[in-house]
Amino acid sequence: MMQEIEKVLISEEALQKRIQELGMELARDYEGKTPVFVGVLKGVILFFGDMIRATPIRSQIDLMAVSSYGAGTESSGKIVLKKDVSLNLEGRHVIVLEDIIDTGLTLKFTVEHLKAMHPASLKICTLLDKPARRTVDISADYVGFTIPNEFVVGYGLDYNDYYRNLPFIGVLKPEVYEK
Ligand code: IMP
Repeated sequence: MMQEIEKVLISEEALQKRIQELGMELARDYEGKTPVFVGVLKGVILFFGDMIRATPIRSQIDLMAVSSYGAGTESSGKIVLKKDVSLNLEGRHVIVLEDIIDTGLTLKFTVEHLKAMHPASLKICTLLDKPARRTVDISADYVGFTIPNEFVVGYGLDYNDYYRNLPFIGVLKPEVYEK
């Protein structure tokens, strides 16, 4: 698998350091509240696990699944809800955890879906932000790293559902897409 990686964009150490910082920030901002972390599958899984452990306050978790990407690296633009949350989010402080904001379409759909449940508050925390690709006006309240317009894999992020188990964020060699 490593032979298919052109470069490491964000190392495992840098990811973990930034997640600890974000966790302390969230713990400060949500002190005395019991937020619900809502993760958007599947790309968020590693970030989700690390992020909730890095935030040392009383919280609950839930997961939803939406899908916009078919195979390949370009968004189809069509978002489908594949799995809904199971907790009642009415009156709750919701923190949406996302792996990456690219065009912003997935996040816009997610936020509209969750806001319809009337949470007390809703904030967005994304590991990665690719602002160059945004097509809808949406931004995160907490951002791990702002990255250039490159397709990245690892730490939960995939290409054709592979590479999610890499512990760092990397860029694939061009020939991998050409196969
Ligand atoms: P958006 O709707 O265009 O913002 O795309 C969001 C979703 O597309 C993310 O949750 C990822 O699953 C996927 N995605 C966007 N950019 C990348 C990337 O560079 N690598 C892997 N997946 C990506």
